[in-house]
Amino acid sequence: FQGEKSFLQKYGPYYLNGAKYTILLAFVGVLFGLIFGSLLALMKLSKSKILKALAVIYIEYVRGTPLLVQIFIVYFGTGVIGLDLSKLLAGCIAVSLNSAAYVAEIVRAGINAVNKGQMEAARSLGMNQKEAMRYIVFPQAIKNILPALGNEFVTIIKESSVVSVIGVSELIFQTGVVQGASFKPFLPYVLVSLIYFVLTFCISRLLGLVERRMGLND
Ligand code: ARG
Repeated sequence: FQGEKSFLQKYGPYYLNGAKYTILLAFVGVLFGLIFGSLLALMKLSKSKILKALAVIYIEYVRGTPLLVQIFIVYFGTGVIGLDLSKLLAGCIAVSLNSAAYVAEIVRAGINAVNKGQMEAARSLGMNQKEAMRYIVFPQAIKNILPALGNEFVTIIKESSVVSVIGVSELIFQTGVVQGASFKPFLPYVLVSLIYFVLTFCISRLLGLVERRMGLND
């Protein structure tokens, strides 16, 4: 009868809202992760022992501690020093800082995977180190880096669910809300798993397409 709405009609907007924040977190995380991660990778590849050590310590520490703890550290840590960050901003920062460590390794591996002969050939043609990096090594490294970066995006879509612990209203947080409002314990989580799956599946398909395209241009 009138007024009776289906589950999806009632709670769809919650999921939609959550998906918005999940995608935002992933986007911001990978973007700033890429910027900061590239910097870390260059530090790790540099000749300066200090820069190298700093990069290695950061990368190992971040990859060796749970994202959950890092989120708490950023959220409560900024509070302790008197910064009143919003939950969303704290979540974005934590995810970006986390992603940077993983992206740093992606970038470093991508650069290292370019055959040494490429650098040697460029140098023997009269290019200096910088030019050789810029015109010969980087363009080839990009082909190794981009696909892995896509995977990182998929990872962050899933891992951003942890940010729900500080109350950022992404997908998992919203699922909890729906669970409470609907008195249904199970269905909301089945639904959210489907949403995550559709997101990650679409993204990996898209990546596969882009990858094949880049392969053709070789
Ligand atoms: N589940 C991991 C943890 O809790 C986070 C992994 C993040 N991975 C990434 N590629 N950014 O430590």
